[in-house]
Amino acid sequence: MRRRLAAILGATGVAGRQALRALEDHPWFELAAVASSPRTAGRRLCDVLDGEGFDVDPGALGNLVLQDAGHFNASSVDVVFSMLPSEVAARLEGRCAQTTPVLSTASAFRTEPDTPLLLAGVNPEQFEQLRHQRMARGWGGFVAPGPNCTTVGLALTLAPLHEAFGVRCASVTSMQAVSGAGSLAGAVMKEADGNVLPWIENEEEKVERECARIFGRTVKNTIEPASFPVSATCTRVPVKDGHTLSVALGLERASTPEEAAKVLSDHHPFKNRGLPSAPEIWIDVRSEANRPQPRVDCAAGAGFTTVVGRLRADPVLGGLKYLVVSHNAVMGAAGGAVLLAEDLLERGFLGD
Ligand SMILES: NC(=O)c1ccc[n+]([C@@H]2O[C@H](COP(=O)([O-])OP(=O)(O)OC[C@H]3O[C@@H](n4cnc5c(N)ncnc54)[C@H](OP(=O)(O)O)[C@@H]3O)[C@@H](O)[C@H]2O)c1
Repeated sequence: MRRRLAAILGATGVAGRQALRALEDHPWFELAAVASSPRTAGRRLCDVLDGEGFDVDPGALGNLVLQDAGHFNASSVDVVFSMLPSEVAARLEGRCAQTTPVLSTASAFRTEPDTPLLLAGVNPEQFEQLRHQRMARGWGGFVAPGPNCTTVGLALTLAPLHEAFGVRCASVTSMQAVSGAGSLAGAVMKEADGNVLPWIENEEEKVERECARIFGRTVKNTIEPASFPVSATCTRVPVKDGHTLSVALGLERASTPEEAAKVLSDHHPFKNRGLPSAPEIWIDVRSEANRPQPRVDCAAGAGFTTVVGRLRADPVLGGLKYLVVSHNAVMGAAGGAVLLAEDLLERGFLGD
């Protein structure tokens, strides 16, 4: 297979750095370009990231020179990974998509009626919608946005449970890591230190809306949202990486915690597919009472494994409740985008 040339826009950010990790030495993608804001453009990656806790080998990726994302020529690569702030993504992603497929962690396109919200391993039946988006807009490429990082941990665990038992309703409370705030992480950590911040702007609305879209179905070339309601409360806690979610579900068909644990543990959408970034264990169901914990579990499967624990019956909703830890910047952002790109490439959506 021909290796595809890839670019990362926003390569110096929290998600962008995880994209660098995911694409370094990737067998299917060759990182050909990196871009950022005019603040850092023109400098070598290693000079920008040096001393910021990121280990870049200057002989390989470190020597790449950052371009200004605002002037990036997307036709020079086969696929663009966009890790830009949403307001910037709203200006630049459509322009890149005129020639080239764009996989994005930003929210700019998530609510566009012709655009699917794609989560690796969860809703490949919506891939076809990318062809409609391309045709409707007259683009050579497409924009495939991924969900918000909190939605990711929830939707990854809902998928097998919904298939097995039917989700009637879901209630989730998040305890989110500060790295989810990107360049503001340092300031947010100061505010959250010894504290819990009870509100994250727009986050609850995103989780509720995005879940409905991910589990929706395509009707007349648009996505009709799933009908089960999701109620979200999102908080920020003094944790560096890894979002923890407390989830309670009402189910259509009864399930014991043991049955649900088996359904979750047996589930692997990429089993025997040979996708380079797919972890060996998709969902790790822990039986210990003190797991999952973000510091211990968020790096499971190099950040691609979702860790579930404390599975028990929920007497209020008449279903199940459990805790989830998911790496917000890996599976919740850049890693999820790279895994999605692998799946798209293997299914013929990234050219011949
Ligand atoms: N952090 C997470 O866990 C996470 C999870 C899921 C989704 N996301 C989404 O992913 C995107 C990136 O998030 P992040 O946390 O990585 O953000 P971040 O750490 O703040 O990084 C932002 C990146 O965008 C670049 N940038 C900023 N302003 C720009 C401009 N005007 N023109 C071109 N480039 C510009 C920055 O370059 P400079 O270094 O030059 O400023 C940097 O590379 C956001 O849309 C976010 O909502 C993040």
